[in-house]
Amino acid sequence: MKGKVYINGDLLPAEEASISVYDRGFQYGDGIFEGLRCYDGKIFKLKEHVQRLFQSARAIQMSIPLSHDEMCEAIKTTVRANGSLNAHIKPIVTRGYGWKLGLDPKNTTEANIVIIVREIGESMYAQADKGLRLAVVSLRKPPAYCLDPRVKSLNYLLNILARAEAQASGADEALLLDTQGYLAEGSADNIFLVREGMVYTPTLQSALAGITRQTVIDMAVASSIKVFEQSLTQYDIYNADEAFVTGSGAGIASVVQVDGRPVGEGRPGPITQRLIQRYAEVVKEGEPV
Ligand SMILES: Cc1ncc(COP(=O)(O)O)c(C=O)c1O
Repeated sequence: MKGKVYINGDLLPAEEASISVYDRGFQYGDGIFEGLRCYDGKIFKLKEHVQRLFQSARAIQMSIPLSHDEMCEAIKTTVRANGSLNAHIKPIVTRGYGWKLGLDPKNTTEANIVIIVREIGESMYAQADKGLRLAVVSLRKPPAYCLDPRVKSLNYLLNILARAEAQASGADEALLLDTQGYLAEGSADNIFLVREGMVYTPTLQSALAGITRQTVIDMAVASSIKVFEQSLTQYDIYNADEAFVTGSGAGIASVVQVDGRPVGEGRPGPITQRLIQRYAEVVKEGEPV
């Protein structure tokens, strides 16, 4: 542990940064978070991540005691305090302390705001260069009538168990289906398929509205590649020419295998590679810290 952690306006040495056991995020997962990347001293899509954080908060009736600009500033200040040029940034907001215990969201203090910065290299997946192996797992992504997938909440148990199930079967990442059997997303990323030069991705009914997902859609459209957001099944990925996953941590990572079957020719395909190259350019346009 090294560096500084932001907690409610203070920058504390990482080894001293802690939060009470009465925190609602610790007790119930009652909070939200974001995951951003800093590339060469520039934070990619800072405003979009902060906006999603505030939208998640609003959706779960949690108020953040900072303005959007103050949150952006707090994130930049924390990155500067860590002297990090290439980093993963994790802002976390919980509903605050619940001294009385119990679920009632009214029995809480003001929200707790934590920002953690961790130095990292290119991708969070060790396998990203060679291409990832996905496994369709038994756990299903709940629809919006359970918990809207646009809320990036601190309840990641489903995702953690999905990742563990995939890894137990020898894969690198999970592919979750929704309750109707359509492709939803990965445990920490959105899924894309390529077929006959066109790009397909599931709708947002059971998937997080990924900021990288939107960036990829914009990049593809700008390169005159057709993109379809539609219901997709395992049939579609087994018949895809290429597949890739997207996320702020992973960037764009090619998928070369699903359920032990090669995707297309079993190696990163040309459209995926083109998008990866373009993404490496686009991330240079982040906000300087
Ligand atoms: C469940 C899930 N889906 C998709 C994503 C990708 O979202 P983004 O591109 O905004 O990082 C994430 C990112 O953490 C995630 O946790």
